[in-house]
Amino acid sequence: MGTIAVISDVHGNLEALEAVLARIDALQVDAIYSLGDVVGYGPDPEACLALTADRCRLRLMGNHEYGVLHADQSLTDFNALAQGSVDWTRERLRRAGLLESMAGLKSSHREGPLLFVHGSARNSLDEYILESDRQGYSNFDLILTSLERDFTDFRICFVGHNHKPFLATREGFLHPHEGCHEFQVPEDETLYVSVGSVGQPRDRDPRACFVTFDGSTLAYHRVDYPFEITAGKIGAHGLPAILADRLAVGR
Ligand SMILES: [Fe+2]
Repeated sequence: MGTIAVISDVHGNLEALEAVLARIDALQVDAIYSLGDVVGYGPDPEACLALTADRCRLRLMGNHEYGVLHADQSLTDFNALAQGSVDWTRERLRRAGLLESMAGLKSSHREGPLLFVHGSARNSLDEYILESDRQGYSNFDLILTSLERDFTDFRICFVGHNHKPFLATREGFLHPHEGCHEFQVPEDETLYVSVGSVGQPRDRDPRACFVTFDGSTLAYHRVDYPFEITAGKIGAHGLPAILADRLAVGR
């Protein structure tokens, strides 16, 4: 199958996207797949749309693209912060004449044993695969149910949406870290691969995140980028300060 790089949740962060693409170029992968939310929150939706359209073999729709395109029928519970940024992004892309360029995107893609989605196997656009619920209780039983019920004609489901890198297998969760960021995937294994976020990581590591996969080895990569430049642009556009501040702490 060659080696693919899977990116997600760029969220209009051009500095993070450029740093990730430079690392991907150095790795010499065969194709780049984007799992959606290229826009929303960040200050450069136009450039990020153009760059992913140019570089990615697959581009999926995320809930932010959907929200930008469907002003009057929000399928998702956007909080005020997300809704405000969706409305700001819509206006920017409308003025740039780029709204149409997102209209044909799908939220899932099957390729042999691999399923690529923004959200989950059951709801490709808008369901979160999360390790735990809001009270901190493990969601492992829910994920195990999904692995056994929803994985009908595929084995590995790549997801974005939650902005956190981890693997969810039938045995438990695996979290990549500096000492262990490459995993072997046995041929009979079913698992969720949560690829993390390029432009707004939420695992308390501010570095941009993506994965590579060659059919057996799955590797997580972290890339430093100048988030203070992105944060400065967010401030200059009058977007909420929290969108800038969170980039420095990765949450
Ligand atoms: Fe997102």
